[in-house]
Amino acid sequence: MFDEAEIALTVRRLAAEVARGSGDEAITLVCVLKGALFFLADLARALPAHLDVTLDCIAVSSYGASHRSSGEVRLVKDASTDLEGKHVVIVEDIVEDGLTLEYLTGLLSSRQPASLRLCVLLDKPYRRRAAVRADYTGLVAPDAFIVGYGLDYQEKYRNLPYLARLSPKAFEEWGPASQIGRGRPVKLPGAPRNREA
Ligand code: IMP
Ligand code: MG
Repeated sequence: MFDEAEIALTVRRLAAEVARGSGDEAITLVCVLKGALFFLADLARALPAHLDVTLDCIAVSSYGASHRSSGEVRLVKDASTDLEGKHVVIVEDIVEDGLTLEYLTGLLSSRQPASLRLCVLLDKPYRRRAAVRADYTGLVAPDAFIVGYGLDYQEKYRNLPYLARLSPKAFEEWGPASQIGRGRPVKLPGAPRNREA
């Protein structure tokens, strides 16, 4: 879907936008684990060296059938630094229904940061349930399930250096997400062909 060169260009553009929006203020990048790991690592290194940058991580319940139907977002790991008075930038891999970012925005704004911005690599604007708007958006993705560059399906494919559409075949072979780990034998798909995982 998006190759390494496109991702690198996008990340450099986002870093420039974040830097422009920060002036000379120190910023704290908050990585939403685990999907935004590689994005944050590349984004942070693309920021100008003179900018004062600190990092933190937060984790919320992962994408899944129950999450989609109930709209429930659960905090798995909180930030470990004091965000009060800080210029915070939430760094997220993808926004789809928007519930994750709505939850995180609420949670982190309660910590009284000096400012709170959202930086998202991918936007799937087709099924919004919460009116969140990222301050910085990388790429608009088609309405498909995407893996790679940190994004997973059942914890797999995060390591791919590019962004790929998960093939219907992989879905078929794995079965619905709700059945994984519930006694149904899981068949691993073979090595990805082309750019489809
Ligand atoms: P939202 O709450 O629907 O906006 O979903 C955001 C979260 O769902 C992201 O942090 C991802 O972990 C996950 N997610 C949404 N779409 C995809 C996808 O296409 N591939 C992998 N993960 C996804
Ligand atoms: Mg995920």
